[in-house]
Amino acid sequence: MLSEQFISELKARSDIEDIIGAYVNVKRRGRNLVGLCPFHSEKTPSFTVYPDSQSFYCFGCGAGGDVVTFIRQIENLDYIEAVKLLAQRAGIPMPEDGYDDSFAKLKTRILEINRETARFYHRCLISPMGKKGLDYLRGRGLSDKTIRHFGLGYAPEDWDATIRHLRTKGFNLDELSAAAVAVKSARGSYYDQFRGRVIFPIIDIRGNVIAFGGRILDGKGPKYLNSPDTPVFKKSRNLFALNFAKASKEPALILAEGYMDVVALHQAGFVNAVATLGTSLTAEQARMICQYAQEVIIAYDSDGAGQKATNRAINLFGEIGGKVRVLKVHDAKDPDEFIKKFGAVRFRLLLEGAGSAMEFEISRLRQKYDLESSDGKVEFLKEFAKFIADIRNPIERDVYVTKITEELRVSKEPLVAQIDYIIRQRAKNAERKQARDLTVFASSPKDRRDPQRDAHLKEALAEERLIGVLLKNPDYHRFILERIQPEAFLTDFNREIFRVICERVEQNRPIELIALSEQLDERQMGKVAGILADAASTGATQKETLDYIQTILAGRAKKSPEQLKQMDREELEKYVAGLAAKKK
Ligand code: CTP
Ligand code: MN
Repeated sequence: MLSEQFISELKARSDIEDIIGAYVNVKRRGRNLVGLCPFHSEKTPSFTVYPDSQSFYCFGCGAGGDVVTFIRQIENLDYIEAVKLLAQRAGIPMPEDGYDDSFAKLKTRILEINRETARFYHRCLISPMGKKGLDYLRGRGLSDKTIRHFGLGYAPEDWDATIRHLRTKGFNLDELSAAAVAVKSARGSYYDQFRGRVIFPIIDIRGNVIAFGGRILDGKGPKYLNSPDTPVFKKSRNLFALNFAKASKEPALILAEGYMDVVALHQAGFVNAVATLGTSLTAEQARMICQYAQEVIIAYDSDGAGQKATNRAINLFGEIGGKVRVLKVHDAKDPDEFIKKFGAVRFRLLLEGAGSAMEFEISRLRQKYDLESSDGKVEFLKEFAKFIADIRNPIERDVYVTKITEELRVSKEPLVAQIDYIIRQRAKNAERKQARDLTVFASSPKDRRDPQRDAHLKEALAEERLIGVLLKNPDYHRFILERIQPEAFLTDFNREIFRVICERVEQNRPIELIALSEQLDERQMGKVAGILADAASTGATQKETLDYIQTILAGRAKKSPEQLKQMDREELEKYVAGLAAKKK
């Protein structure tokens, strides 16, 4: 366990505003700061930072906690790793031992396995056994230099050649399956995850091999197979070739669909190309791209699926305020094929001619309607108004409005009026949402539903308020514990939080958020942060505290608060004390 002295120093030197500010664009509102939540996708800000309590809470998804919880979630780290990162940033040396770093050790081990596996696959590719793979890659136009640069490889067509090799290097089967290079069969034997495929190692920005993608050559099975998520790999948080692209010095990143597109683009000199890893773009990936580039150029496949994915990506980038251009590959299905057919110079022209996201959306929209007919025009203009209302800059809006009204030969004023109306309406809705966020705390965010809480909403709320009282006034703990014990709580989730806090208060240990994050997990920290956010506006007088206690005990005793209210004070105190004592 880390010493309290260390934790309090870490806290003093890790201001939540600075730390979150490095990841999220937050704006001051009163005492607090708000911004778009980095943990779910949203258009109006629900993510709030509370400098007073050094906490954050998202009213949209329920994520919340202290700086450590934030770093854990955003960097995908465990508790100790997050503390290490913060300590490093603050320039405080980590205590030498006394904490459990077995998870960190496993991760290091997995990274060693991955590196060795990548080497093995590459050696197989350039050995006689890998001829099939090498012929394939060369056949697709890749030079030996490119193959080496990306460390491409070949996984032998054998059930366990990779496992056997790795075992000679001293790795055991548990480690190999944690790294997901070995798979455990139903019968308990282990076989290679990748067999008879050319391999694309996935390398993170620190240069670690974190996973693999494998393309089939012949036979049956999916065209591409990717490593599943492991302790060192989350596909939603990484991008293929970002390790190279981040050093490209180009102001833009090119986002393609496939591994082969990216490899071909780099070979042709477009070293700022990246791709997602077998999934569609996630909000996290969009944010990473915006971190490394001022602008993204989407260069997806030209088929319907690619265009739909483009539309989705535009929306994602729009939500986080990233600048987007869209490249259209003509007469080829994807950038890889385009470069092979027409060469790098023509691709450079395509890049330069890539239109704005708005132009892409408008041209997609135009294709949906028959602009020769009046009905078609009306429907088109309605949709068009919604799109244009998204543009913040009035001059930019005017450019598109003028262009389209001239082309369709309709007058400008009604369209402008409609757009202004939509903008006002949206602003009103956003305001309402913010007001609602502040009161919506009573109903927990949708993706974190707790059935027990739903069944005892009133009591659960009282439990949470009581936890809030305790957090804000630790000196009330006698008063509270004399009247109620954690066992009386109706929801397991709140009970556990209450129990941990009570225990710490009784042992005279700190109960600030940063201290709690050692014992509470992410969900629990989210709840605590939510409680604190709520506590600012709820009462913590003795009378109110008693009310919360009564509500919980009444729920437990299945006595309605009405019945309890009818008891006189003495009766009530006795009843409450009796319940409390019984639980001891
Ligand atoms: N993909 C996947 N699983 C599949 C098919 C595709 O994970 N069964 C992912 C891969 O990351 C792939 C990307 O989707 O790189 C694009 O797929 P596709 O357009 O089919 O692949 P191409 O890059 O065109 O592949 P190739 O040129 O090798 O045929
Ligand atoms: Mn392709």
